Amino acid sequence: MVRVLSCIQPSGDVHLGNYLGALRNWVHGQHRAEVFHGIVDLHALTATDRPGVLGDHTLRLAAVLFAVGLDPDVATVFVQSHVPEHAQLGWVMECTVSFGELSRMTQFKDKSERRDFVSAGLFTYPALQAADILLYDAQEVPVGDDQRQHIEITRDVAIRFNGRFGETFVVPKAVTPPVGARVMDLQDPTSKMSKSSAGTAGTVYLTDDPSDIDKKFRRAVTDSRAEVTYDREAQPGVANLLDILAAATGDDPRRLAGSYQQYGQLKKDTGDAVVAMLAPIQQRYRDLLEDRAELGRLLRIGADRARGVAATTLSRAYGAIGLLPPS
Ligand code: TRP
Repeated sequence: MVRVLSCIQPSGDVHLGNYLGALRNWVHGQHRAEVFHGIVDLHALTATDRPGVLGDHTLRLAAVLFAVGLDPDVATVFVQSHVPEHAQLGWVMECTVSFGELSRMTQFKDKSERRDFVSAGLFTYPALQAADILLYDAQEVPVGDDQRQHIEITRDVAIRFNGRFGETFVVPKAVTPPVGARVMDLQDPTSKMSKSSAGTAGTVYLTDDPSDIDKKFRRAVTDSRAEVTYDREAQPGVANLLDILAAATGDDPRRLAGSYQQYGQLKKDTGDAVVAMLAPIQQRYRDLLEDRAELGRLLRIGADRARGVAATTLSRAYGAIGLLPPS
């Protein structure tokens, strides 16, 4: 089975776009490949000015991942800081990547321009990311376009290391994740749903109350054409509702368009479908957050399994370099 690594930063609440666009596919993917899912809290550290909230965000994200259906028996879900080999191999990667390569990372340029405090960690971020990937001998890393450059540099570094010290790392490749539904902001249906949009009226969080979800859909921006067609250009708001309804019910958006005349009914049905889809997830999420011991147990299972693989790779790398083993 092919080994796949995905990582996600614990940087805030998970929304419907994350779920329908990505997480739901992770759940399907866990039976088709050997999957590792890292919650990369150390990466989040490069950017946060509120490190005190990281633990809480990490716990909530872990609860979401299990609640949506990642099964600890088949998927390895772990917290990056629970697996010290990430930081250890990260240093080796910092010594394998060049200053020039890191300077060319467009994400660093973008992010550093928008901050007054630019940590060295923000600059060396791709070295830690390379460690995340190489530790697991991952063959495939599903990422969006914004991460392609980071996978490219990981490949370059792996090839360089193997060339210098002998075959040690599997050279991974970026793969395009299976596309789920593209969910747009309910208030601004020409932009993707995101946690950074102004206000929260356009973003449906996985943990929103049913009444809030209903309200957000009822207030969704549509248009004044007063007809329901599936046309992303001409009717982006309506098309978004149809896409969400289709994704939530397993139906086809074009077929659904034919069964509606009024926006009000479409909004209500979409809200209802989302509430129904999320109900069992929300229940499991609440149960897990109430049972911290159980959540801790699941994360320990993940960390143990991850460490089993990561420790082997790290000692292979140390050995290849020729570091003196402790006796
Ligand atoms: N940089 C990724 C992001 O911002 C997160 C990430 C960290 C990652 N380590 C990774 C993604 C390893 C894929 C593989 O989304």
